[in-house]
Amino acid sequence: MQKKNQNIDSSKPIGVFDSGIGGTSIWNEINQLLPSENSIYLADSKHAPYGIRSKDEIIKLSDKNTALLLKKGCKIIVVACNTATTNAIDYLRKKFDVPFIGIEPAIKPASLKTASKVIGILATKGTLSSSLFQETTNLYNQGIEIIEQEGTGIVELIENGKLDSTEMVLLLKSYVLPMVEKGIDHLVLGCSHYPYLIPNLRKILPENITIIDSGYAVAKQTKAVLTQFDLLNKNSAAGKHQFYANGTVEVLKLILENRFTVLAKDF
Ligand code: DGL
Repeated sequence: MQKKNQNIDSSKPIGVFDSGIGGTSIWNEINQLLPSENSIYLADSKHAPYGIRSKDEIIKLSDKNTALLLKKGCKIIVVACNTATTNAIDYLRKKFDVPFIGIEPAIKPASLKTASKVIGILATKGTLSSSLFQETTNLYNQGIEIIEQEGTGIVELIENGKLDSTEMVLLLKSYVLPMVEKGIDHLVLGCSHYPYLIPNLRKILPENITIIDSGYAVAKQTKAVLTQFDLLNKNSAAGKHQFYANGTVEVLKLILENRFTVLAKDF
């Protein structure tokens, strides 16, 4: 059950954090669905990748990000990171008195739609090894083979502005082509950085393979929870947005197509 501090003002921003710039793929979906909402985005690039860290470290980093967003007055927190959600959201929900929205790999829709009964998932080590991910997988793996692949190195390349590099294309091929050989017809992107890989993945994957990410589902859930707590912004003007990065500001600016100012901040 989500909690809510009764005194929250609905014009306050939605707080979004990720281990870096990838969570902007989720932010984009939220902004499209809820254009009047104000927001604050934290890119914790300094500590990326989260996916190779221990559960304890991921909890500490998620705690720090949440505390900063709450200090800035956020009314709800979107954990726009699969690794942080699968390792830390239970802790966050117990500790902080605001609603939380998390993101998890979309195993359920893929397992319901697969015809070949083989689906692939690309995610970080931290997500794949989490008990929350294993619990979800166990719910949907009856009669279905789920091929798990760690996306080692992908987040680092994206954080370093090498989204479309030859290095990235080679790495992606080495991860997804073996899954194609095993007959997947769905590829689940289990990391919020990965939707930015879709143009490259489309070139690599056969046409019959469907790529699924969780961005729209997270945006819909954010809207549902804000509605449930009467926290949707009453002001219908376009929302105002603040972006903070503790790594290179330029990479975040670029992924946002230079539409927003990004502030450098140490956190
Ligand atoms: N965007 C994060 C996720 O969704 C990346 C994790 C990482 O930093 O390794 O899992």
